[in-house]
Amino acid sequence: MSKAFTPRVFSGVQPTGNLTLGNYLGAITKFVALQDQQESIYCVVDMHAITTWQDPADLSAATRGVAAAYLAAGIDPVKSIIFNQSRVGAHAELGWIFNCIARMGWLNRMTQFKEKAGKNRENASTGLFVYPNLMAADILLYQATHVPVGEDQKQHLELTRDIAQKFNNDYADQLARLGFGDAFFPQPEPMITGPATRVMSLRDGSKKMSKSDPSDMSRINLTDDADTIAQKFRKARTDPDPLPSEMDGLEGRAEAANLVGIYAALSGMTQDAVLGEFGGSQFSTFKPELSDLAVEKLAPIAAEIRRLEADPGHIDQVLKDGAERADSIAQPVLASVKDIMGLVR
Ligand code: TRP
Repeated sequence: MSKAFTPRVFSGVQPTGNLTLGNYLGAITKFVALQDQQESIYCVVDMHAITTWQDPADLSAATRGVAAAYLAAGIDPVKSIIFNQSRVGAHAELGWIFNCIARMGWLNRMTQFKEKAGKNRENASTGLFVYPNLMAADILLYQATHVPVGEDQKQHLELTRDIAQKFNNDYADQLARLGFGDAFFPQPEPMITGPATRVMSLRDGSKKMSKSDPSDMSRINLTDDADTIAQKFRKARTDPDPLPSEMDGLEGRAEAANLVGIYAALSGMTQDAVLGEFGGSQFSTFKPELSDLAVEKLAPIAAEIRRLEADPGHIDQVLKDGAERADSIAQPVLASVKDIMGLVR
């Protein structure tokens, strides 16, 4: 594809449950760094959240909670665009169009659907099945080129690229006729970088740290207090061996690797450097150091989240302003899509 697109970042976080250290290290800190490099759009994807049942009061609170975490972590709502997805109707419109572009076979391969639907596939919402099409719409509505996401979203990004490509191919004649060159949609790149991109459960090093895990001990919530953080790290599952001095020594030790990864991400050190400092130490020495570091880094963010949540009017204004700015980018793109497809407007 030869056409050059202006670099633009888009990403989203679902407002379901409490945000965890995993969301913070794996996503939100990356968002903060990226906003200085190019135009960035950060969405609270409430329409993705409702693919599984959400209590209405919890959904509203969690939507404001994600927005508060974005702000507390340092996303600047003037430089970047922060908004909630349901406020910009174009997401749903383009999502429908992509339901008609994507193939059943493509969606049948999505591993996240299989995991989330589990054995009860017949009872999963149809929205959960087409969820990746809505995600593709989120990204392509802004012709975004870069998408910071966790490892688990890579497959959805590949699907997004397939949808973009199929649209560009299916309507190639129209693109040429209307002056869009050979590509209307870009091929967005996933950005999966840095240590602790994937923070794992504190109870099981093979599972992702998740806000939906039934055990609260499996995760550090962004709003946990110092005692809770210390207790969760103290109880975190490990093995009986001391920490190794080299990275090789972490192989086959998922829980140890996870804690080292978290330390590295919070401190800004490489994992090598962390092992250089703590190699040979017992977990009884390392864990208190790790919780002190986590408390030091998270306490100011937790305090800021609480301060912001005490003033929902401010958060709502940020989301509303952001939605207006997002809509002004989205509308012309959607209008062009309609023109390309022959939908009369
Ligand atoms: N599916 C993503 C997740 O569960 C959330 C998401 C929705 C998203 N739309 C997006 C992420 C667009 C990046 C870009 O984490």
